[in-house]
Amino acid sequence: MKTKIFALMMLLAPAFAFASSGIKLDKADVDLSNQASLQNGAKLFVNYCLSCHSAAYMRYNRMGQDLGLSNEQVKENLMFAAEKVGETMTIAMTPEDAKQMFGTKVPDLSVIARARGADWLYTYLRTFYLDDSRPFGVNNAAFKDVGMPHVLWELEGLKKPIYETHKDHEGHEVQTLTGYEMVKPGKLTPAEYDNEVRDLVNFLVYMGEPAKLKRYTIGVWVLLFLAVLFVLAYALKKEYWKDIH
Ligand code: HEC
Repeated sequence: MKTKIFALMMLLAPAFAFASSGIKLDKADVDLSNQASLQNGAKLFVNYCLSCHSAAYMRYNRMGQDLGLSNEQVKENLMFAAEKVGETMTIAMTPEDAKQMFGTKVPDLSVIARARGADWLYTYLRTFYLDDSRPFGVNNAAFKDVGMPHVLWELEGLKKPIYETHKDHEGHEVQTLTGYEMVKPGKLTPAEYDNEVRDLVNFLVYMGEPAKLKRYTIGVWVLLFLAVLFVLAYALKKEYWKDIH
């Protein structure tokens, strides 16, 4: 019993830990059946994330198969950090380099979507804001004092936070972040940027559980099969019982 309770607590722990960061998460609304979105997400991932973060559980060829791309397409468009399509998505940077550059280790992103959830990732990647006190000049509303630079700033632009000051119930002044003001626009409009981030998060969710795609399609066939079976079984039952009444 004790171990069961403990297991349950461990299961729920992330929910509590991350809920405490206090910001309202925006809905990612990702769609795993949207292959174009997954392909775009993969492109963004290899271009903007794979220099620092590995995805050591993901193989290029597996990704290609799942996303409807040939090995050649994968090689040409998505492979900058590996030689063979059978390799996993590793990076050249060592943990020591990372520690030196960022003062912390750079987590592998293979299963980050399962640890953090899609909504958190979607919010995180859209809430970098200017903060001179931080080493890279940015802070993050979902991850306070984050050690990661805003790597998508060219797409999103740079924004500064807008605070509102009010008094809490003990009379202390507290500042809450109420919004942002774009200081330097990026290449994309805010709506376009949201869509790019949604695709990227979609890809991260896929990567967290590649078999999910297959499970969805299998699930549909199973339901169809059951539906057909039901009709047949019902017809058979009628046939068997027709003379008995
Ligand atoms: C220049 C290096 C660099 C690049 C490029 C980069 N990151 Fe990061 N990222 C970091 C570092 C360093 C941390 C650790 C931050 C910390 O712990 O304070 C981090 C942390 C994160 C986290 C939080 C992980 C956690 O602890 O839960 C996520 C999610 C993340 N990165 C996603 C991304 C995505 C998605 C991209 C591509 C758009 C990306 N990163 C590109 C350096 C990078």
